Amino acid sequence: MDVEKTTKTFTKKKSSCHSNKIITCVFLLLLIPILVHLQASPFYFFSSPTATSRAFFNKWKGIALDASAGPSIPKNSDGLISKLRESVTFLPLKDLRFAETAMEGNTWFMSSLNDTHEANEAEYLYFPSQMSKGRLLCIKGRHATDGTKNSYALVWPEALPDSATLMKGLTFVSDTFYDYGNLWHGLTGMAPFVGWSMKNKCLNPTRWVLFHWGELRSKMGSWLQHLMQANFGDVKIEGFGGDGPYCFEKAVVMRHNEGSMGKERKLQVFDLLRCNARRFCGISPEGKGQETNERGEPIIRLTLLMRTGSRSFKNASAVTDIFARECAKVEGCTFKVAQSENLSFCDQVRVMTYTDVVASPHGAQLTNMLFMDRNSSVMEFFPKGWLELAGVGQYAHHWMADQSGMNHRGAWWDPLVKKECPFPQQDLDCFNFYKNGKVGHNETHFAEWARIVLDQVRISKMQIATRSPTNKPQPNSIACKC
Ligand SMILES: *[C@@H]1O[C@H](CO)[C@@H](O)[C@H](O)[C@H]1NC(C)=O
Ligand SMILES: *[C@@H]1O[C@H](CO)[C@@H](O)[C@H](O)[C@H]1NC(C)=O
Ligand SMILES: *[C@@H]1O[C@H](CO)[C@@H](O)[C@H](O)[C@H]1NC(C)=O
Ligand SMILES: *[C@@H]1O[C@H](CO)[C@@H](O)[C@H](O)[C@H]1NC(C)=O
Ligand SMILES: *[C@@H]1O[C@H](CO)[C@@H](O)[C@H](O)[C@H]1NC(C)=O
Repeated sequence: MDVEKTTKTFTKKKSSCHSNKIITCVFLLLLIPILVHLQASPFYFFSSPTATSRAFFNKWKGIALDASAGPSIPKNSDGLISKLRESVTFLPLKDLRFAETAMEGNTWFMSSLNDTHEANEAEYLYFPSQMSKGRLLCIKGRHATDGTKNSYALVWPEALPDSATLMKGLTFVSDTFYDYGNLWHGLTGMAPFVGWSMKNKCLNPTRWVLFHWGELRSKMGSWLQHLMQANFGDVKIEGFGGDGPYCFEKAVVMRHNEGSMGKERKLQVFDLLRCNARRFCGISPEGKGQETNERGEPIIRLTLLMRTGSRSFKNASAVTDIFARECAKVEGCTFKVAQSENLSFCDQVRVMTYTDVVASPHGAQLTNMLFMDRNSSVMEFFPKGWLELAGVGQYAHHWMADQSGMNHRGAWWDPLVKKECPFPQQDLDCFNFYKNGKVGHNETHFAEWARIVLDQVRISKMQIATRSPTNKPQPNSIACKC
């Protein structure tokens, strides 16, 4: 998508037709579509034009180019403009007819508009563009509890509603089915913007507009906000002070997650986020530390990432002992326990930068795996009942590992020996009963598993060390693409 072209269309002045040149204007209006069409062709109109005809067409070509994203409106057509202004129709941001398929196709958010699809990219909407026929996106969006009360319209820049506020610059508009607080859900909603920006000269947004089911949200979680700040600079979230409408000079709308991005694209997005987060937190690749010790043995950093409350270990000290013991048996292995809730964003980035193997109960804190070097390892633990009742959602961190280039080394599910659930016939109620349980442990199994993973990591680090014995940092951590 060519952002430059559509930008020009908006910022340049409208083509000027003067009242005493009506005939020229009519001719010009007829000419515009022809010239617009010809732009795409390598052959210009009339293969060998006379000097006069060339001068004539060159003269009008500039005007036609101005109109390349859509028809432009003659300046003095006040009557026409006011009619256009009055014909602007606002539609509900959340269309209940699509409630059953809110995540699919064109979704219930701005349901009248079709996404732009490009190979390997997330679907998006861009305004103004050919898709919008040069029109801007306008939103009345203050409601925070009912998305059907918020609305949107497409408006020609010449015919903005009288009460409209024009928001200059580039606006990122997001609608998520989930939320902006949870690390994993927040990240999957934001990844498409990162991919879009990478593809479009690393453009940064002037502001963000956040929706959930078409309801306005005024903030994102602190972790997500820091990550976006690391990547795009200051994060300004629009609160819509008045009833609006607010019209955006340029807007990108994302209403799906990263699902349709290609695998390589996802890896690039996560490489960029990792790189920018480390830079933001002042962690330079040089300072990342040696990968081998003085005897040439690979250094393996094993981190037990704990959480408190739901899905924490029933007996954290027993689990700590098992992993500490196994690590101590491997030369070059260093062991650390981190409490995820107690860490600032940059502390989380730092801990994970210096981690080769993370072992952690299932939970949003595992989203931090993205800050490890590529090919690092993940070990995951679930409370009982999850394997039987949680559905595919429990594989979120398997997917996350896949997308961010990590190695998911399997999971342990606390075995459900006999169902204690008080509603044995109802899976959903049962799942809610088990969902936030605590995670037990099996000493024999954990020890054996840790030994196998540490061994595999040692072998693979050994191979890397033989290939590049100079302890050079990995290429993907040296320079951020944006
Ligand atoms: C959106 O796509 C559908 C199906 O491809 C099509 O029928 C519809 O006309 C499109 N709508 C717009 C506004 O382009
Ligand atoms: C936790 O495990 C340790 C070591 O296995 C054991 O000594 C201790 O009693 C356990 N604590 C609880 C509360 O079960
Ligand atoms: C985490 O912070 C809480 C208070 O905020 C404190 O009580 C607790 O000891 C800390 N835990 C660790 C492991 O540092
Ligand atoms: C990651 O692991 C794969 C397979 O083991 C290997 O081919 C690749 O080179 C590794 N990548 C990095 C960056 O170490
Ligand atoms: C613990 O793990 C070992 C090895 O995987 C297995 O043989 C044993 O049955 C497990 N114990 C329990 C109580 O599940």
